[in-house]
Amino acid sequence: TDFDTILLGRKGRVGIITLNRPKALNALNSQLMREVVSAVEELENDSEIGAILVTGSDRAFAAGADIKEMQPKSYMDVYLDDFFSAWDRLAAARKPTIAAVAGYALGGGCELAMLCDILIAADTAKFGQPEIKLGVIPGIGGSQRLTRAVGKAKAMELCLTGRNMDAEEAERAGLVSRIVPAADLLDEALQTATTIAEMSLPVAMMAKEAVNRSFETTLTEGVRFERRVFHSTFATEDQKEGMAAFVEKRSPVFKHR
Ligand code: HXC
Repeated sequence: TDFDTILLGRKGRVGIITLNRPKALNALNSQLMREVVSAVEELENDSEIGAILVTGSDRAFAAGADIKEMQPKSYMDVYLDDFFSAWDRLAAARKPTIAAVAGYALGGGCELAMLCDILIAADTAKFGQPEIKLGVIPGIGGSQRLTRAVGKAKAMELCLTGRNMDAEEAERAGLVSRIVPAADLLDEALQTATTIAEMSLPVAMMAKEAVNRSFETTLTEGVRFERRVFHSTFATEDQKEGMAAFVEKRSPVFKHR
């Protein structure tokens, strides 16, 4: 498939979506949104792919939704379009997703990173929800996902003042899993994605589903859900293989990868 605003690549079992609107610091316009969603669908349907990596450039993961595209829109335009709702498709991906963030991840850029399961930051990363400075609020889940990730106090401060936080602060607050030197970002993120993509795909999908359930339900129901899914791993050939390999002191060769 040909894309204008992204690059779609593959390394082994990892699908790599690179946001590619360098002149606009990867601002997220409608075309880019459609192209990312279409790439995600392609990778989800590809049995050779076990994990999806989303990244940008050294300077910007994405500097937000495209302000120039949004500026002329009316309430009816955005309401009738359910503007931005297409991004839900990325959150709904069943395969594990990893955001590798260098430079600006602001507004919709921060929200896009938070739509992914794991967020790895370069030491140059800057996160923020500056929408309030434009007279709007986050619209791709930022007020919800940032709050779940870093807690109320910091989420409120970021959404109400529009200030950025650097990678150190983002890691301390629990938004990012790890900080790596900018020069190593892609290698490190690819290594993590490859590790995941070498696991049993259905079991990785179950692990993702179980973690995500914790954001949707009570502890009792979440633990019950986890236990049922855990039981169901015993119906997979990969559970047989994983445990046999341990007992036989060899590496597992998962069938469903
Ligand atoms: C459209 C953008 C853009 C954006 C940058 N550009 N961010 N275009 N939408 N979000 C464009 C600039 O207009 C400029 O184009 C080019 O990219 C380079 O940007 P500069 O501003 O010249 O770069 P720099 O001085 O280095 O500043 C970088 C920056 C700044 C601090 C990231 O660009 C910035 O503040 N951007 C906006 C950040 C923001 O407010 N994001 C939230 C968007 S709202 P030209 O053609 O002039 O060279 C959002 C809402 C989501 O995401 C949902 C709720 C509605």
